[in-house]
Amino acid sequence: MHEDVQKVLITREQIAERVAQMGTQIAADYQGEPLLVVSVLKGAAIFMADLVRAIDAPVEMDFMAVSSYGSSHESSGVVRVIKDLNAPVEGRHVLIAEDVLDSGLTLNYVVKMLRSRNPKSVEVAAFLVKEGAQKAPVECKYTGFACPDEFLVGYGLDYAERYRNLPYVGVLDPKVYLG
Ligand code: PRP
Repeated sequence: MHEDVQKVLITREQIAERVAQMGTQIAADYQGEPLLVVSVLKGAAIFMADLVRAIDAPVEMDFMAVSSYGSSHESSGVVRVIKDLNAPVEGRHVLIAEDVLDSGLTLNYVVKMLRSRNPKSVEVAAFLVKEGAQKAPVECKYTGFACPDEFLVGYGLDYAERYRNLPYVGVLDPKVYLG
């Protein structure tokens, strides 16, 4: 375990098992129809990379980057698109792969934006959903794990851009951000 991590919340084995289950369910639900998996950089890239490999169906990938105004670890709900998708989503099944659904403000905005482009469908697969943290409604069809509203790092989740590469999800030791 990393010295800055207070405790491991979800192990690498638990992640692998759950992501495999999610992929199987997604492949079954779309019944062989082509799927565009979209993720919002950067945190979701790790989950997305594992999820697409667990979906036994025709899958394409695309990426967006957004920035939310406000403090460094709290969304404000005002989202600016830094990098849009490369291709139109009209007439396509879109699945947004998200690392963590926290306030929901980012995803609420992204879902609305993509729905306005006339896709066949838009659904959300969130690896983590923080319990009791949502301020904006987001319908999440696929959820990896519910987790406590704590400072989590690893498997894509960062603190000051670090720890994304930890293969597990852990609670960051407060000494790191309290100094
Ligand atoms: C995180 C995470 C989600 C968003 C969730 O991204 O990846 O996209 O916050 O927060 P919300 O539900 O409160 O809107 P962040 O803005 O930290 O960027 P990152 O993915 O580059 O770490």
